[in-house]
Amino acid sequence: MERETLVLLSTRELAKMREAGRFAANLLQRLAELVKPGVSTLELNDQAEQWTQAHGAKSAPLGYHGFPKSICTSVNEVVCHGIPNAKQVLKEGDIINIDVTPIVDGYYGDTSKTFYVGHPSARAKKLVEVTEECLTRAIAEVKPGARIGDIGAAIQEYAEGEGFSVVRDFVGHGVGRIFHTAPQVPHYGKRDTGMRLRPGMVFTIEPMINEGTWEVQVLKDKWTAVTKDRKLSAQFEHTVAVTEDGVEVLTLC
Ligand code: MF3
Ligand code: CO
Ligand code: CO
Repeated sequence: MERETLVLLSTRELAKMREAGRFAANLLQRLAELVKPGVSTLELNDQAEQWTQAHGAKSAPLGYHGFPKSICTSVNEVVCHGIPNAKQVLKEGDIINIDVTPIVDGYYGDTSKTFYVGHPSARAKKLVEVTEECLTRAIAEVKPGARIGDIGAAIQEYAEGEGFSVVRDFVGHGVGRIFHTAPQVPHYGKRDTGMRLRPGMVFTIEPMINEGTWEVQVLKDKWTAVTKDRKLSAQFEHTVAVTEDGVEVLTLC
């Protein structure tokens, strides 16, 4: 956490976040078209960096607390923060989360999706589908007066009901002119607990759902988080704004 105080965005700032969010979504869509067997995660990174620069934006992850690349690429048992690498070549049946955060005119748009490389196993596809549905259900909880705990509860109830587990070590976060700020948004928890949502709050929801144990380990590179049992993990992320009457998803094309 770089900042603990809650920031409510003005109408003008929300318009900037809408631009950053749309940019992020478009970038992710472009990268999705490149996902296929034989492509390295470094190629995805380089395409992302090139497209981002060509459109006048910056890649937030590059140099962030020493992160060495422009996007995160998290394959199979990697939970999050996978580092793009020339030697890591996608193969038939993999799943890969691509997480992008461009900075557009000072505002951060943060979104990720998990993609299929060719045709993964039925079990892998089920995990990915459940994870996307977790995000959808979580977003449906967001409205003024709802509480942070409602978001995590919706995710945990559905994921665990489907026989999967929810990662504890990484949470959603406030985002705006700062990459990671208040509030923290856990993807597990209890209804009617936590901070009350108010119009102007902007944060991410980014559930990481595991096939086996929820426990993670960070590799020696200090970034790559993997499942402790090396079973699969999937993630989807949107940046959302609390509006007067509900929610607006900012990271849509
Ligand atoms: N985009 C990630 C998130 O959802 C953060 C990546 S930080 C990095 O919060 F340094 F690993 F890139
Ligand atoms: Co995020
Ligand atoms: Co992200």
